Amino acid sequence: MASFTDLQLEQLEPGIWCCTIDRPKALNALNGTVLSSLLEAFAWLQQQDDVRAVLLTGAGEKAFVAGADIAAMQTMTPLQAREFSQLGMQVMATIEQFPVPVIALVNGYCLGGGCELALSCDFILASDTASFGQPEVALGIPPGFGGTQRLARIVGKNHALSMILTGERINAAEALRIQLCNQVTEPSQLLELGLSYGRKIAANSPTAVALAKELIHKGQNLDLQYGCQMETELFALSFSGADQTEGMTAFLKRRSATFSLS
Ligand code: CAA
Repeated sequence: MASFTDLQLEQLEPGIWCCTIDRPKALNALNGTVLSSLLEAFAWLQQQDDVRAVLLTGAGEKAFVAGADIAAMQTMTPLQAREFSQLGMQVMATIEQFPVPVIALVNGYCLGGGCELALSCDFILASDTASFGQPEVALGIPPGFGGTQRLARIVGKNHALSMILTGERINAAEALRIQLCNQVTEPSQLLELGLSYGRKIAANSPTAVALAKELIHKGQNLDLQYGCQMETELFALSFSGADQTEGMTAFLKRRSATFSLS
């Protein structure tokens, strides 16, 4: 267990950690302090020996994250807003580039900066009470933590335009239909669902998982030919590590592979 301001980190099982944004009275809204805590928490996790999957969620039963903190933003100057957006962007990039999968457990409102935070995770599991939205335009601003870019890449331009320009919320079933989230379950089952994904990931080669994550995320911004060249290079690189020997030997000897973190 490690505590940061308005954020908790807890090891749930070997290799599986849960990061909980803990400002339930403000529906876990992201202010500068929470964003800095997220950066500190992921830097701290990177120093630990046994991190194979991270679950990211919000405290309380009502919200994952209801957005960037409107009270904190209300009086910002353009310069302060730029710095705030840059800090948010840094958090999203840190999660996206973290060498271990990060899974969003969306347990309620997932709005604005909260939706952008979930979109920076590797995939999204949602409770059937969750709702998603990018309501920024009703506040007189466009999204500022990457929503116009990641949402369009994940659900496509048409759904992104519809969500962002209307600002309307969609429920978990609709989020699943447009592939904004990967799976929906009852609220009481959400953590267990996250753990089941975490356990499957944790049983695999951490090196191969990290390489595959990097290839998929970087490939989103590359043309197919260059992305495939990068895959060839990282595929070849994986043959220089112990995990490839262990994984293939275990298969051929009909035993389970045991991968240790290098
Ligand atoms: N920022 C700051 N405080 C917030 C907040 C936010 N984004 N969302 C909720 N809160 C606070 C409320 O002010 C309230 O505080 P008080 O009890 O001190 O009054 C508390 O959380 C509970 O909220 P509500 O009373 O409003 O709860 P509700 O059940 O009636 O409504 C809600 C829930 C629909 C989520 C509503 O709170 C809401 O619409 N929140 C704002 C959602 C939003 O617009 N998010 C986008 C923010 S902008 C952004 O994110 C920019 C960006 O991309 C970087």
